[in-house]
Amino acid sequence: MSQHTAGLAIETAGLVKTFGETRAVDGVDLAVPTGTVYGVLGPNGAGKTTTVKMLATLLRPDGGQARIFGHDVVREADEVRGRVSLTGQYASVDEDLTGTENLVLLGRLLGHAKKAARERSAQLLAAFGLTDAAGKQVKHYSGGMRRRIDIAASILSTPDLLFLDEPTTGLDPRSRNQVWDIVRAVVAQGTTVLLTTQYLDEADQLASRIAVIDRGRVIAEGTKGELKASVGAGSVHLRLRDPAQRPEAEQVLRLALDADVQRDPDPVALTARLDAAAGDTAAAQAARALGELSRAGIVVDNFSLGQPSLDEVFLALTGHDTKTDAKTHAKTDPKTDPKSDTETGTGPAGGGGTSAGAGAAGRGEKGEVPV
Ligand SMILES: Nc1ncnc2c1ncn2[C@@H]1O[C@H](COP(=O)(O)OP(=O)(O)OP(=O)(O)O)[C@@H](O)[C@H]1O
Ligand SMILES: [Mg+2]
Repeated sequence: MSQHTAGLAIETAGLVKTFGETRAVDGVDLAVPTGTVYGVLGPNGAGKTTTVKMLATLLRPDGGQARIFGHDVVREADEVRGRVSLTGQYASVDEDLTGTENLVLLGRLLGHAKKAARERSAQLLAAFGLTDAAGKQVKHYSGGMRRRIDIAASILSTPDLLFLDEPTTGLDPRSRNQVWDIVRAVVAQGTTVLLTTQYLDEADQLASRIAVIDRGRVIAEGTKGELKASVGAGSVHLRLRDPAQRPEAEQVLRLALDADVQRDPDPVALTARLDAAAGDTAAAQAARALGELSRAGIVVDNFSLGQPSLDEVFLALTGHDTKTDAKTHAKTDPKTDPKSDTETGTGPAGGGGTSAGAGAAGRGEKGEVPV
């Protein structure tokens, strides 16, 4: 990688970071187009934070190269620092200060005059739905409010490139939607975003391209369509009225979907994997299956459609699940199971990006985040 490629915000070749015996990042190549959201998807310990830290000049690589807008992260670290901002996995704001105090302080540190820092702080707090909490100490904020103030802090000065390291881990569906709206607003105004996540649906919602990383290596890269095509379209879960009808339901589903059907431990439940290459959306396939069951006189009490979980993605790509590596599994993290993103069949649930109230955080009075 001797020449900078025009149009790329991030370009890495063979990036390596080791910690003793651990090759946390083991030869990562990335090419992130300017003006887009790029998703880096991987389980605990995959090397996401380590990669982000090297790109943000907080860690020195042990091998390979990385350029941000053409500037080498080691030799031209100052130029890089002038153009990037990072919202870390763990909160960086001061818990004992209020929302306003945090933002004004950081604004002053960035060189804003007192009045400008106050104005900018008020503007961001309003845009992120935090005006009512502006005078409260951050330690009394909810998880969702914390993430929002963190992101607000990282865009006090509009960065050309924003790193968001697991911005929604541990948040409830409504708060996740609010953060997603903020990310969309930030990128709409020209900032390139590199987002790390453990949730396929989050990468799906926000990113144009996705790199899947496992044990420090990129194991798949492409548009979300390409990625989904390689891992399947998710699954449909059904609960029948009568357990005696399960064997027949299983057969009907197999024929209707040409899919793998599994019996769940619950005697009335079945799960069918949907085929992404079927040419139909997951919803259309599920509708077909329900129609066939009804024609066969099988009563379905309820059903849900689930996106492939990170485990399913990993299984499809690597033949092992995300927990195979004892070292990465050893970390206990309160991260929720991505399967909780499952949507019920009766209406859109949390993951759809349409929840009421989401607009309050993502948009200011003029309908945009003032970045
Ligand atoms: N400072 C450090 N010293 C020693 N080992 C480290 C250090 N930082 C990270 N590691 C190890 O490097 C590997 C990658 O860690 P990293 O934090 O980059 O993963 P991650 O993908 O961000 O995971 P998570 O989803 O849990 O945040 C892990 O095995 C981790 O234990
Ligand atoms: Mg991390």
